[in-house]
Amino acid sequence: LNIILLGPPGAGKGTQASRLESEHGMVQLSTGDMLRAAVKAGTPIGLQAKAVMDAGELVSDEIVSGLIGERLDALGGDTSVIFDGYPRTAAQADALDTILADRGRKLDHVIELVVEEDALVDRITGRFSCAKCGAGYHDRYKLPKVEGTCDVCGSHEFKRRPDDNEETVRTRMAEYRAKTAPILPIYEARGIVSKVDGMADIDHVNDAIEAILGS
Ligand code: AP5
Ligand code: ZN
Repeated sequence: LNIILLGPPGAGKGTQASRLESEHGMVQLSTGDMLRAAVKAGTPIGLQAKAVMDAGELVSDEIVSGLIGERLDALGGDTSVIFDGYPRTAAQADALDTILADRGRKLDHVIELVVEEDALVDRITGRFSCAKCGAGYHDRYKLPKVEGTCDVCGSHEFKRRPDDNEETVRTRMAEYRAKTAPILPIYEARGIVSKVDGMADIDHVNDAIEAILGS
């Protein structure tokens, strides 16, 4: 399977992609995670991307499509993948068509997480993650089971993203509305878009996605 999780910042793309990865052996391809790793490692791409990401704007289409192609090449041809945060522009949607066709893959589903913008700022500003393994949490919606201890790896260190402040979130949402939402019709015309209520709790959203993938 090749699926896209599409939705604005904070819609729950990363949360759901990691569930599918751990429960169904699918591989999550998050351009946001790849770029953050590049920033952390100080690679040329990371140096170029950092300021753009901190401002909440979009990194260049060539960079992100290049990263996706490289990642796919490192996977077996029959590995199921979830694109998380990619494509985000019409040019990226075009590039993905080529990238998939070149590798004998086809897009099965585009799952749109439908959410109310007001809830997103709350979700994003409350988000934090394990500094060691990256597991995601939220100040109110998803606290570690034992306070201050990561459920997955037991670490006591957590971190927050530099772009998770209200002002940057507003810019990220504006970018989504202007550049990403307009690509939905491309996929709607192909009849592969399913809408999921992203306002439901995390388990219910997961159930709804599994129902689509199982159908
Ligand atoms: P990226 O990392 O992709 O960020 P984003 O799209 O803004 O998405 P988020 O990670 O903020 O949200 P999410 O939908 O994954 O939500 P999550 O599951 O964490 O991109 C960052 C930057 O990189 C971009 O701004 C851009 O600069 C650059 N970039 C990346 N890809 C690019 C591309 N293709 N082209 C150009 N530039 C690119 O959930 C959020 C919080 O809510 C969590 O705390 C979670 O626990 C909680 N939560 C999740 N689901 C629920 C629920 N159902 N109920 C209650 N709480 C929930
Ligand atoms: Zn951890």
